[in-house]
Amino acid sequence: MIKIALPKGRIAQESLALFERLYEGNFVFDDRKLILEHKDFTFMLVRSQDVPTYVVHQAADVGIVGLDVIEEQQVNVVRLLNLGIGKCKVVVGSPKGKILDYQKPQLKIATKMPHITRKYFANKAVSIESLKLYGSIELAPLVGLSDGIVDIVETGNTMAQNNLKIDEVIMESSAYLIANRNSFYEKKEFILALYDKLKEILNQG
Ligand code: PRP
Repeated sequence: MIKIALPKGRIAQESLALFERLYEGNFVFDDRKLILEHKDFTFMLVRSQDVPTYVVHQAADVGIVGLDVIEEQQVNVVRLLNLGIGKCKVVVGSPKGKILDYQKPQLKIATKMPHITRKYFANKAVSIESLKLYGSIELAPLVGLSDGIVDIVETGNTMAQNNLKIDEVIMESSAYLIANRNSFYEKKEFILALYDKLKEILNQG
């Protein structure tokens, strides 16, 4: 038996579709249920940012989560496989028609990813104040809360519709299969079999 934490939303749907191809059967959560049991699997539906917590504490043996979340939280897990789904970018953005002035003594950057943000600007020796928000990041520079943002871009629609431009791309992200270190040892055969199967269908495209 293996417990798998999936991030609510599109990545969960695409992951379950992969499992359907691998193991045959209906991998569908009932209505508002957060647990799905199917043969050897127990799937759980959690917030994307919470996947590492479930995996680190072994409430889940493995998880599927974006590289951006792994980088932000610096979690101690086994990073097994890039699934190539949930592709997005972490970018620096600011209002169109304005230049983000790196010389400013205290550049204010709104983000839900303060760790990635601080690390990125520290490497460039740019002094910033990071403002931690939980969502609607794009709003911050429009109303004077910040000079710029560090946020996720998928289609680019949210930034475009809010008159923001991408100044720099910090990293490309996609969803990874991760495993708890003890689970990887205890359930090695099962996890490696899953890894092999996933790798095979990903290679098939
Ligand atoms: C992310 C991100 C942007 C949006 C980008 O938020 O913070 O707001 O998606 O997507 P787009 O480039 O396709 O427009 P998300 O919807 O994940 O919600 P959250 O703020 O609750 O994390």
